Amino acid sequence: MFNHLVRRARKHRWELAVAAAEKIPALNPDVVVCSGDLATISAPREFEQAVQTLLPLVDDTSFELLYVPGNHDYYTHDPVCVEHLRQAFHTMNRGRWQLGELPLAHTFEGVEFVLVNEARPEPPYSSAGGVTPVAQEWLQQWFTHLADETPVCLVHHYPLFDEQGRELARRRRCRGNEAMQQALREGAAHLSLCGHIHEPYAREEAGGGIEFCAGSVTACATVTVIEFDPASKAIAWELVEL
Ligand SMILES: [Fe+2]
Repeated sequence: MFNHLVRRARKHRWELAVAAAEKIPALNPDVVVCSGDLATISAPREFEQAVQTLLPLVDDTSFELLYVPGNHDYYTHDPVCVEHLRQAFHTMNRGRWQLGELPLAHTFEGVEFVLVNEARPEPPYSSAGGVTPVAQEWLQQWFTHLADETPVCLVHHYPLFDEQGRELARRRRCRGNEAMQQALREGAAHLSLCGHIHEPYAREEAGGGIEFCAGSVTACATVTVIEFDPASKAIAWELVEL
């Protein structure tokens, strides 16, 4: 709550989330990804406000909509807060999955979207996350059995590396994400869509894949628009101002 009142409330402007919900359908997307941090302290009223704001995207079935939680969405073990996260996850993914089903692979228009939950409550000084051992095993097995040339898009919260390709600081990084790091670096994954860091960026890997950090819509007033051709694996992108 201290963090919310002193720092984030001044930095984030909710009206930009409203603007994003209005602007995104006009961009004619095939897929819309929300990479987490709908809330600040996982308060029930935050989830209610976020889901209500984004409901036009949930209801517009002209595009696919995918959401994974961020660390601010799973900020506490409080059962009421956790239940609101579960409900928000279910609604934002149009009632198809429960949070406990992650990680999962979802095929859409020939692309494999791999949704991973990296959020978990941490001590106040930390904004780190983690992939559970069970999820790590699932990811390793999934990539082992992946057919060559399958277009793969990782959908998760923590950048695999920072803008320069280095590990994130210890208190901000995700532990246990080595399988995803390797997949992006070696070209088995073509896109990594994440958030967490407030400034948006794109970082190309030698293997041809690109990691896109969406940045904060409510702090930076931008959304990232990505063009991806599953056949050629060609990627182009631009930041669109709200
Ligand atoms: Fe985050």
